[in-house]
Amino acid sequence: MPDLYQELINLAESNMYPLHMPGHKRNELSTPMKGAFRCDITEIDGYDNLHDETGIILEAEERANKLYGADKTYFLVNGSTSGVLAAISAAVSKNGKILAARGSHKSFYHAAYLRNLNVKYLPYKQIEGLNIPDSFSEDDIEQYIDTDVEAVFITSPTYEGICSDIRKISEICHRRGIPLIVDAAHGAHFGLGTNGTQDTMFNKEKEANEASAEAGYISVPENAVSQGADIVIHSVHKTLPSMTQTALIHVSGDLIDRARLKRFLRIYQSSSPSYVLMSSIDLCIKEMEENGNSYIENLLKFRNRIQRETSDCKVLKVIGKNVIDDPSKVLVSVQDSTMTGEQLYDILREEYGLQLEMAGENTVLAIITGWDKEEGINRFINALTEIDKGLSVAQDNQVSHKISFIPPRKMNICDAWDAESEFVSFSDAENRIAAEFVNLYPPGIPVIVPGEVYTKEIIDTVRSYLDQGLNVQGIEKKEGLLCVRQK
Ligand SMILES: Cc1ncc(COP(=O)(O)O)c(C=O)c1O
Repeated sequence: MPDLYQELINLAESNMYPLHMPGHKRNELSTPMKGAFRCDITEIDGYDNLHDETGIILEAEERANKLYGADKTYFLVNGSTSGVLAAISAAVSKNGKILAARGSHKSFYHAAYLRNLNVKYLPYKQIEGLNIPDSFSEDDIEQYIDTDVEAVFITSPTYEGICSDIRKISEICHRRGIPLIVDAAHGAHFGLGTNGTQDTMFNKEKEANEASAEAGYISVPENAVSQGADIVIHSVHKTLPSMTQTALIHVSGDLIDRARLKRFLRIYQSSSPSYVLMSSIDLCIKEMEENGNSYIENLLKFRNRIQRETSDCKVLKVIGKNVIDDPSKVLVSVQDSTMTGEQLYDILREEYGLQLEMAGENTVLAIITGWDKEEGINRFINALTEIDKGLSVAQDNQVSHKISFIPPRKMNICDAWDAESEFVSFSDAENRIAAEFVNLYPPGIPVIVPGEVYTKEIIDTVRSYLDQGLNVQGIEKKEGLLCVRQK
């Protein structure tokens, strides 16, 4: 049996093209770093220490900081996951209250669990038909922010590339003297390139007027750092040429206690941070400083070609700039066909050797970057146009699995997840408290969170998802729903 390394070499030598993360696209030209073992060391003399940096690591962090313009930037070797955990732990007191979107990444929920937080949720907002999470406006925040909320947590861009107006949301937070944490794991490339933050004010309303499905992308959106967020977390590995697990956390202003943040970064990250990963971040930053413009130009060129050259497709639709803010995210809708997202994903993989990032109910998502190769982009365009020729338009045949409500809550996540639990049959679960997350994939938004109550509506919804064969995680089909044990 081949070992893991051999499996990876087999993939590298196969014809499968990566339309997914990491941003370097396994393109060796993206880095001078070939022999990882030669530079894999631990904290020896002269090589500084990530957890108490004063030398070469501090200098590397300062280079990254200069690129993004925050007050302080720290390297992360345990992904944005560790950044989200540390940011929330530092910004909100233990047992404190935070306002967040329901569709937040699981690291958000894990932070809420570890710190026993009281989470107030922003309502579900989904884009009709596509069933993907929408952005939040300043009015949403104004409406849901309570006086005892200690921080606001927003994901922008979303996984599918939709941005909230971080400038306006941070103004609301700052008027109340509380920090805004932006999970921009997918937005490390924002604000870079000639049309980036330095000379463009990203104004969503203005851009929306100019935008139509056919309009080309002229820049990447503005970075959350320059829009005034107090903490911004970037996975450089997702959209920039850096190795998997590498990320950055940026801090600005005086609402976040730096020493406290550093304490949590030490807690949540390995005590043996990889120099290979840290140097990969540094090389990536250097690459963006030196060649960032051509990288962003490539990305925009690839994205606009995909948009333009698939515009004659009758059934498949590449969702354009009027909906998707991030040119890296190519969301293809199968809404007008009898095909599901999963089926298109399989055809692209099996018949065209294109590995996409994700399949949704009636969409597929590809991630492209400036390090893609012309051949891969051509293959993607050809595949979409060819598949489209064989499809016919079908009306109203898509079932919508929209999650539209948040169940009432009786316990905090932490108490319920730690509580003794038992399986309860669907017919007996009404009014019982969930002891486990139940998630519908995709998009992975929780249907119920530990501590919330199974209402009839929730039980019926979960049942209908299962009946339709959807991927519902957190349920033992035979045994039922995991609930807090009743005394
Ligand atoms: C929105 C969001 N936040 C955070 C993360 C965690 O990032 P990482 O994989 O760098 O730990 C992800 C990962 O997919 C994500 O999608």
